[in-house]
Amino acid sequence: LDHFLYRDGILHAEDVPLSEIAASVGTPAYVYSTATLERHFRLFDEALEGMPHLVCYAMKAASNQAILKTLAALGAGMDVVSGGEYARAKAAGVPGDKIVFAGVGKTEAEIAQALAGGLRQFNVESESELQAISRVASEMGVTAPVTIRVNPDVDAKTHAKIATGKSENKFGVPIARARGVYAEAAALPGIEVIGIDVHIGSQLTDLAPFEAAYLKVAELTETLRADGHKIERLDLGGGLGIPYERSNTAPPLPTEYGALIKRTVGHLGCEIEIEPGRLIAGNAGILLSRVVYVKEGEGRRFLILDAAMNDLIRPAMYDAWHDIVPVIEPEPGQERASYDVVGPVCESGDTFARAREMPQLREGDLVAFRSAGAYGAVMASEYNSRPLVPEVLVKDDHHAVIRARPSFDEMISRDSIPEWL
Ligand code: LLP
Repeated sequence: LDHFLYRDGILHAEDVPLSEIAASVGTPAYVYSTATLERHFRLFDEALEGMPHLVCYAMKAASNQAILKTLAALGAGMDVVSGGEYARAKAAGVPGDKIVFAGVGKTEAEIAQALAGGLRQFNVESESELQAISRVASEMGVTAPVTIRVNPDVDAKTHAKIATGKSENKFGVPIARARGVYAEAAALPGIEVIGIDVHIGSQLTDLAPFEAAYLKVAELTETLRADGHKIERLDLGGGLGIPYERSNTAPPLPTEYGALIKRTVGHLGCEIEIEPGRLIAGNAGILLSRVVYVKEGEGRRFLILDAAMNDLIRPAMYDAWHDIVPVIEPEPGQERASYDVVGPVCESGDTFARAREMPQLREGDLVAFRSAGAYGAVMASEYNSRPLVPEVLVKDDHHAVIRARPSFDEMISRDSIPEWL
């Protein structure tokens, strides 16, 4: 499903050899494929054909301006979770009426920012937030469109750190309390309730939890309508998973997900929004890295890369698996070896994979972490004063640096010295 393929013995991003990018940009670096981003957005858009809908890309997955502009050009809306993301969406030319604002801790400043710049809706997560929005909107003399995020208490069957739809998670209002919260919202000035929002987690590889959640939303829609509320929009969240391990069975396709949406809520006549992040950006990006050393340990062999946990934190944070492949295509029958793949950061947690079976590699070889486009660059840091990892966008046979690697001087000049020093 992506455009990272071996051609003439070299892994390419579309028509550009990754070795060429490594030579011009250096490593580590993220490399994205335009065609893959576009393809994945269209898969969702087409899966919802026949229903009024908007695919709002969850930009938390990858929020570079060039990526946002690529998707905005196809008509994508954006799901934002902070003032910074809101500003990024606007800077990329996304109209306010295609921006949905989510998150449990929206500040009054963020609420005012979005109301001033325009937005499609706030996805509200608590009574306190409703009151804050009402206060700010009333002061500004405007009306804020809102959906209320309900927590359906459904087990998303994903990693605990990225499940959001169980009652123990901080997200949404318990679905059992929803009627009361809608009644409160209806009575507040400056608020216009337009629908319901739900999101149960990320990297879901089975449709059953979505089905359980959407059936609950369908039932709630009828109940709230009977209570006199205008429910005309359903935001069904994001979360459809991607195949991280090529050897595993692939998660359901967007078409199957779209069919499920039609089946569960299609009869309600609502406008549908979805907020996919990972499925759009995940397999549209790789992290390019170089082997610095091969080190023999006690009963194990370490592959020490120039990429580290600060560049790609998913393995350290979620024990996530990323396929790691050589940029030069292995010959058939090439010798294989088992490696602990690590980075240079001074922590044992800086481990990408343990006892990973791979074609034998040598110092100086290039490797690519697959499926690194989502929650990769956006979660990177400068820990160990490693300059923030650069990003490159490929389209056909050209590539462009879309975020440059900062120099040491740039990195240091962000600090300022108090007058007493
Ligand atoms: N909508 C809401 C309200 C969300 O909280 C999220 C993700 C999404 C949409 C997009 O979900 P997606 O389609 O990307 O699964 N850093 C973690 C993932 C965190 C997901 C947070 N919320 C990781 O690297 O696995």
